[in-house]
Amino acid sequence: MKIAIIGTGYVGLPTGVGLVEQGHHVTCIDKKKSTINSLNAGKLTLFENGLSELFEKNRKTGRLHFTTSIKEGIKDAEIIIIAVNTPIHAITKEVDMDNVYAVACELAQYIEKYTVIAMKSTVPIGTGDKIEALMKEKNSNIDIDAVSLPEFLREGHAIHDFFNPDRIIVGLNSTRARKVIENFYKPFKGKVPILFVSRRSGEIIKYASNAFLAMKIHFINEMSDFCEKSGANVYEVAEGVGLDTRIGSRFLNPGPGYGGSCLPKDTNAIAHMGRKIDTPMSLIEAAIQGNEWRKKQIAWRILDSVKDLVNPKICILGLAFKADTDDCRESPALTVIEYLLERKMNLVVFDPQAMKNAKNLLEDKVTYAKDEYAAAKDADTMVILTEWGCFRNLDLKKIGKTMRTKKIMDFRNLINQEHAKNAGFEYCRIGVS
Ligand code: NAD
Ligand code: UGA
Repeated sequence: MKIAIIGTGYVGLPTGVGLVEQGHHVTCIDKKKSTINSLNAGKLTLFENGLSELFEKNRKTGRLHFTTSIKEGIKDAEIIIIAVNTPIHAITKEVDMDNVYAVACELAQYIEKYTVIAMKSTVPIGTGDKIEALMKEKNSNIDIDAVSLPEFLREGHAIHDFFNPDRIIVGLNSTRARKVIENFYKPFKGKVPILFVSRRSGEIIKYASNAFLAMKIHFINEMSDFCEKSGANVYEVAEGVGLDTRIGSRFLNPGPGYGGSCLPKDTNAIAHMGRKIDTPMSLIEAAIQGNEWRKKQIAWRILDSVKDLVNPKICILGLAFKADTDDCRESPALTVIEYLLERKMNLVVFDPQAMKNAKNLLEDKVTYAKDEYAAAKDADTMVILTEWGCFRNLDLKKIGKTMRTKKIMDFRNLINQEHAKNAGFEYCRIGVS
């Protein structure tokens, strides 16, 4: 099939490359010239496990194209996927739909034959109805169906998730569009549950899924504090609880709070929508508040650990919102850092992939180290905030020789407690008394 994708970011790019691997012809469109120039020159614009190899392979097929022009990029496309960013307003928390509507207005000018407009951006309930109405208002001859195709991929696992989704959700109200989408998802037929629902249900499934994941993380974080103060072990509790298949064991890892470009944004967005139609989402609201509180609480713990020192130096390992990505959007690490900076702490930071993105946000407010060992030199405490695998296997003897105070505060519980103690460290972790 011929497919166009508008928005070539963390969703659009891996999706485009994956679709070419499945045999489709794909044009990825983005308004950002630097992104398209870079991709046309064979240079990836974001880090994603396995993407580089697949990108290289599929560029050679001649079926993967990049352009900044919507008019050119959508020519002959049977499906146009919208994957632009849908941020929320900083204060009202309402979803900012400017990118989506700008794309819809432009598309209305150029679409010449029946086309399915597939929404992969996470958008408020009723967006499909609005998109169809808007495009028909701009071009009364246009022949389109808007479909909700919520995206569930995780950053860092986008390629794996593209080829191995748990389920595919299709929200639509048209049998003509259903035929096109069935053809599109042929490679998954019989292998993955494909659920056809109404368009509005599709839109809600996306928010409900992210909200549930956020609540699950918030739950285990609270349980982690409870275990810590009750003389228990949160991992034993999570395992025992998770063995109940109604609950499940995944997403029960305690940490410094959930972050990223989506869980914080989407929980706030659905809570806002709930308030707007007078159906309060009290559990989701509690998770949002609890998650904000958690990051503050972690900063206080760090500050407390250095309160008796003069001009303490703190080494921070991990800046990305989670491991295996360079993405720092809404990273708990950066929020904790901001709280520490408010108290004028001297911070040296390191992340294996996210240094460039972190620098754009933190500028010269912190010192950037070339690796974990340089970051820890002369530090009074080493704080781990992202669950990178490489932090699990740190050479603690080597690090211990250069730190001023041998202390580790591990908010992802990566380091083996025995190893830390044997290397002479005071070791603090979460959820285990
Ligand atoms: P992103 O910021 O990485 O990429 C979005 C891209 O869209 C940017 O490159 C931007 O330049 C481009 N864009 C914006 N307006 C445009 C326009 N008018 N014309 C052409 N290009 C335009 O965003 P993302 O992380 O890929 O997320 C995209 C959407 O998918 C969001 O709604 C998000 O909630 C949802 N989503 C994201 C993930 C994820 O893991 N990041 C997973 C599931 C769903
Ligand atoms: C999340 C969802 O998992 C995806 O299904 C969804 O498509 C995506 O949002 C989206 O809508 O954008 P992602 O943001 O990539 O994916 O990250 P997650 O793996 O969900 O992690 C989110 C945050 O929760 C991270 O900060 C992570 O460290 C934290 N987390 C996750 C925990 O603290 N504990 C856990 O057990 C799991």
